[in-house]
Amino acid sequence: MRDLREWIALLEREGELVRISAEVDPRLEITEITDRVVKSGGPALLSENPKSSYPLLINQFGTERRMYLALGVDSLDDAGKRVGDVLEMQPPQGIAEKVRGLKKLKSIADSQPKRVRSGPSQEIVLTGDEVDLNALPIQTCWPGDAAPFITLPAVITKDPRTGGRNVGMYRMQVLDGRTTAMHWQIHKDGRADYLLADGRMDVAVALGLDPITAYTASAPLPKHVDELMLAGFLRGEPVELVPAKTVDLDVPANAEIVLEGYIAKDDLTSEGPFGDHTGYYTPPELFPVFHVEAITMRRDAIYPSIVVGKPPAEDAWLGKATERIFLPAIRMSVPELVDYDLPVAGAFHNCCLVSIRKSYPGQAQKVMHAIWGLGLLSLTKAVVVVDEWVDVHDYEEVFFRVGANVDPKRDVLISEGPLDHLDHAPSMQFYGGKIGIDATHKGPAEGARPWPEEIRMSDEIRRLVDERWDEYGLGAPAEALRQLLRR
Ligand SMILES: Cc1cc2nc3c(=O)[nH]c(=O)nc-3n(C[C@H](O)[C@H](O)[C@H](O)COP(=O)(O)O)c2cc1C
Repeated sequence: MRDLREWIALLEREGELVRISAEVDPRLEITEITDRVVKSGGPALLSENPKSSYPLLINQFGTERRMYLALGVDSLDDAGKRVGDVLEMQPPQGIAEKVRGLKKLKSIADSQPKRVRSGPSQEIVLTGDEVDLNALPIQTCWPGDAAPFITLPAVITKDPRTGGRNVGMYRMQVLDGRTTAMHWQIHKDGRADYLLADGRMDVAVALGLDPITAYTASAPLPKHVDELMLAGFLRGEPVELVPAKTVDLDVPANAEIVLEGYIAKDDLTSEGPFGDHTGYYTPPELFPVFHVEAITMRRDAIYPSIVVGKPPAEDAWLGKATERIFLPAIRMSVPELVDYDLPVAGAFHNCCLVSIRKSYPGQAQKVMHAIWGLGLLSLTKAVVVVDEWVDVHDYEEVFFRVGANVDPKRDVLISEGPLDHLDHAPSMQFYGGKIGIDATHKGPAEGARPWPEEIRMSDEIRRLVDERWDEYGLGAPAEALRQLLRR
């Protein structure tokens, strides 16, 4: 998809979008509507009259199906597999593999963003007194929020040393018509660029993008990897960029709205409170001020928004996309890792369930330490490790293994390290305790008594009962009943 419009058209064709023509207030009212719709698995909402001349799109990512449509895949694992295929590329053997290899190389070459001369994101250019953020339908999401917040931005900066681009999704509190706060947390790459900058730093913020490019702003890529390259790779075509009008940055040619401006070193403001994805308000804290010097936009721009709060909220599926897309990359560093799950209720960084192919004593502990050393996964508070045959997405099953296989004295590892910026539980901000729970089967080398055999019916009897099921007069097909009993 080229842009937000093509995405909206697709959502509409697929019966996944409802237009709201009644006037609705971006102050709290839209949150309450959206929250109800998100929690009932409802459609994306295009609010045509949000007390502003710009319509507001929300809940575009709110269901599993819409996330598939957004990424153009049949399952999130398909997107992960495409990344894995490239990461695991081997020298090709034979003609067929060479042709497949060339296709993969082409997809990597096509992922580079492409500079074009002009784009609709600059149809209108507002500077000086014309710049007024208050004209946009920016939401005040929760009653205790300090002000309206831009919640779905793609914030573009450059590493002052290397010129490498970063794109990150960081909420922005509106301070007045021409300034916002920039909430890049201490572990984030935008913040790292800012710390390296000397004096003034150019910043551009793209709002209203094709869904893949918007998603990649939230993807936890290593600092030296350009999010727009991942976007190009997942889209199968490069993201088109135009030079910004007033700053030394390239910006998406097909965005709905672009804010251009600067952040000056040590120009800080009190940011927050804001009702965030932790389910709590984050307290006021100092963050840099973003001075907006120009707004460029399409003639009939659409403003994108998202409401986060107590999970599950719309961002659940953005997080699940990251979980699946990054699985192959994690396996490159932790090869025994079979699968992992970041429960939505754990706000992603609170809990990580991992299944491993265990072949030596202490391997579960090795994997815990690996998770605590990997990118933003390092902020994980609790890691639960189970054996390869346990389905980590089946929380009942994981809970069963924790109950059955854990001796709390032997199998619980208490450690410490960096924690999420917004985690209010630790005694100190940013740093605190971690818990690892080894729920794998253990052998004598790990201090366990002989491990008992798990109860399983023999395959022979299972087959027999499957074949004879109708004779028993129990109605539901054998498989359906088994599923029902598992729940
Ligand atoms: C809806 C949404 C809002 C977010 N808000 C923030 C935020 O305000 N500050 C922040 O540091 N990260 C926020 N994140 C997480 C970052 O976007 C994410 O960690 C991303 O990897 C940051 O990019 P970076 O790794 O290039 O810094 C948000 C994510 C989503 C999905």
